[in-house]
Amino acid sequence: MTTTIDGARIAREIRAGVAERVARLTPDGRVPGLATILVGDDAASAVYVAVKRRAVREAGMRDVHRHLPEEATHGTVAAAIDELAADPDVSGILLQLPLPAHLDAAPLIDRIPVAKDVDGLTTASAGRLARNERGLRPCTPSGVIELLDAEGIELKGACATVVGWGELVGRPLAQLLLRRGATVTVAHEFTADLAAVTRPADVVVAATGVRGLIGPEHIKPGATVVDVGIHRTPDGLTGDVRAAELDGIAGRITPVPGGVGPMTIAMLLVNTLRAAEWAAGREAVPA
Ligand SMILES: NC(=O)c1ccc[n+]([C@@H]2O[C@H](COP(=O)([O-])OP(=O)(O)OC[C@H]3O[C@@H](n4cnc5c(N)ncnc54)[C@H](O)[C@@H]3O)[C@@H](O)[C@H]2O)c1
Repeated sequence: MTTTIDGARIAREIRAGVAERVARLTPDGRVPGLATILVGDDAASAVYVAVKRRAVREAGMRDVHRHLPEEATHGTVAAAIDELAADPDVSGILLQLPLPAHLDAAPLIDRIPVAKDVDGLTTASAGRLARNERGLRPCTPSGVIELLDAEGIELKGACATVVGWGELVGRPLAQLLLRRGATVTVAHEFTADLAAVTRPADVVVAATGVRGLIGPEHIKPGATVVDVGIHRTPDGLTGDVRAAELDGIAGRITPVPGGVGPMTIAMLLVNTLRAAEWAAGREAVPA
């Protein structure tokens, strides 16, 4: 029997918990605020930002938004980030990626103060993670850890293989799993024999952007399979894992949609709350 991990339900519970904590903030406490910056008119990015902003409002937090034109210069985007960085009503800043091609994302991301880096993508946040210091972690990988925790999957001593070492997901996730005591293998496009490194694993996470890459030949019976991939097809969303072929083989599996995706939004809210607590001095530095 393969159990489908209900990421949508777990994300709903986390979001309800955040909303409760926001509602309980003392009257003198600042309502946490998330500022989103969208540059240009990419349709998919506009949808992602709208979904995040709605989630922020539903959690009772302040929704701050800056929409800059497609032709915005580095200086204009930098000025918007600096203004939000100085605003005490803004707890977290999210610069929606990708940026238009004429803009270099890295120096703009690095203008976000580490204490407001709710996406966890600045050099400073990546450094804190690499050095195992407290800080805000990228939303998708921390959502994967939350999912595994919610399912009661023991990570200490487990063998975990992360397929894909992208900056957004695979690389930070490998570090989070290491920090939790897993023995971590990271596979990628140059891995000669993928099945040889995924088959021994108790937990396999696919974050490659290669549709249907992972199938029964890669998975040990009873293993937990987490599918981070998102692919739009005429039949709807699908992932990096051929989920139907793993039925009866995997112990647990995350679906696409309804698995990791909703967790990413939930963790953005968690990070915004942590950033607000960090700023208010209630928590020295978020875990
Ligand atoms: N669910 C979510 O909320 C969410 C969030 C972010 C990204 N994603 C999805 O996760 C996937 C990965 O995103 P990313 O930004 O880390 O991508 P990326 O392009 O930065 O990294 C992809 C990685 O996959 C590896 N790879 C490519 N082909 C491979 C192969 N044949 N075998 C093994 N490894 C291979 C590459 O070496 C690379 O390390 C994408 O499908 C993206 O849409 C989902």
